[in-house]
Amino acid sequence: MKSQLFDILSVKSKREILDLSQKTGVSYDMLTYYNTNNLLPSYSDLQSIADTTRISKIEIMLSMGIYDNELISKLSQYATTISKVLPAVIDDEKKHPIVLNPAFKTNFGKLYNADCLQALKEVEHDSIDLIFADPPFNLNKSYPSNIDDNLIEGDYIRWSEKWIDECIRVLKPGGSFFLWNIPKWNTYFSKYLNERLTFRHWIVSDIKFSLPIKGKLYPSHYSMLYYCKGNKPNYFNADRLPMEICPKCKSDLKDYGGYKDKMNPLGINMTDVWYDIPPVRHSKYKKRKGANELSIRLLDRVIEMASQTGDTILDPFGGSGTTYITAEIKKRNWIGIEIGPIDEIISRFADMHSEEVTLSNYRKRYNKLFSDEDTIARKKKGLWTHETFIKEEQLFIPIAV
Ligand SMILES: C[S@@+](CC[C@H](N)C(=O)[O-])C[C@H]1O[C@@H](n2cnc3c(N)ncnc32)[C@H](O)[C@@H]1O
Repeated sequence: MKSQLFDILSVKSKREILDLSQKTGVSYDMLTYYNTNNLLPSYSDLQSIADTTRISKIEIMLSMGIYDNELISKLSQYATTISKVLPAVIDDEKKHPIVLNPAFKTNFGKLYNADCLQALKEVEHDSIDLIFADPPFNLNKSYPSNIDDNLIEGDYIRWSEKWIDECIRVLKPGGSFFLWNIPKWNTYFSKYLNERLTFRHWIVSDIKFSLPIKGKLYPSHYSMLYYCKGNKPNYFNADRLPMEICPKCKSDLKDYGGYKDKMNPLGINMTDVWYDIPPVRHSKYKKRKGANELSIRLLDRVIEMASQTGDTILDPFGGSGTTYITAEIKKRNWIGIEIGPIDEIISRFADMHSEEVTLSNYRKRYNKLFSDEDTIARKKKGLWTHETFIKEEQLFIPIAV
C-alpha cells in the first residue's frame, strides 16, 4: 500500500498540520492538497519537509510510491541488497485456484459471470489475439452490478494495474491491447503500459454532446490506448474511410485542390482521431438501462484493425456485451467477463440479426471514397466522383491522403 503524505510524517490532527505548516513554511492548504491527491510536494516544499521532519526525500518518495528516473536507477543499482530485505510475496489465490465455469456459451464465445481478476485466472498464458477493455471510469456512476465506482484514486489505479497485468499475461506475443478510458486515467495507464508493452497509438474518439464542466475545458474526447506485445502486432489492417462531405448538399468539406484525381478510390487513410463513432444514448438503441454502452461501430473498427477470422478476443468488462456480439458477428472466438447481471448480454444474442444488419450498413461505407448513395447523389449534382478521373488510357496511381 502506498502511504499518504500525512501518514508518513505521522501528522493526524488539524493542529499537527498547522504546526507542520508553521515549521516548514509550506501553507496548510498546500500540505492538504499534496496529501489528499497523493502528490509529491514540489522541490522546495519537499526539501523543507525533509529538513524539518528528518525523513529523507528518498524515504518520502518510496513511501508515497512515487519514483523519478533517478530513484528508479538507484533502486536497480542496489536491487540485490534491496530484494534481500523484502518479504517474499505470497499469492494465496495462485496456490488455491478457484475453478469457474462459463455462465453462457455461443458458437464462438463463452461468458463468465464473475470478477475479472478471478475469471482471468481461467485464461491460458499467451493465448489471446486481441484484448479490448472498457472498465468503469471511477466517475461515481451507478452500474447494475452495484460496483463501487468512487474509489480513492490510488485504489482505482492499483486495481487497474492488477487487471492490466493479467491482460498482459494472457495476451499472445504479437497480440494487441486496447484500453478505452477517459484521458485522465489513461495518462497513468500509458506510463504503466510503456514499461510492459509496445506503444502503437493514443487514439482520440470525439464525444458528441458531452456536458460542460465549470472551470474546465469542455471535455470532448475519450482516449483509447493501443499497445502490442512484442515489437509489432501479428495483424494490422485499418479500414479506409469515406471522404467527409456535407450530409445535405453532398459537396466537399475539405479543399483537396489539384489532388482530387490522385485520391485513392478506396477511401481516406484512417487517422488516430475518430469523429464518426456515435454515442449510444437514446434508450431505443440501448441494450441495457443506464450509461456506458459502446457502439458496435467502435468494436467493429478495433476488431477489423487488429484481428482475423478465427482469432480470440477477450473483454474483461462485459457491460451490455458490445464486444461479444460484434466478435460473434465477425466470427472471432471470444471470452467475456461481467461481474454484474448478464441477462441483457444473453438476450442480445437472441436478437443478433438486427445488429448484423446495422453493422453491415456501417461497413458498406468503408473502403471506398464515397458510399454508393453518395456517388449517385454527387453525380446528379455534377460533383466529381473518383470515376471522373478514371479514363481508360490513364493509369491510376493512388497516393495516401
Ligand atoms: C463501462 S462498462 C462496459 C460497457 C461495455 N463496453 C459495453 O459496450 O456495453 C464496465 C462494466 O464492467 C463491469 N465491471 C466492473 N468491475 C468489474 C470486475 N471487477 N470484473 C468484471 N466486470 C466488472 C461493470 O459491471 C460494467 O458493466
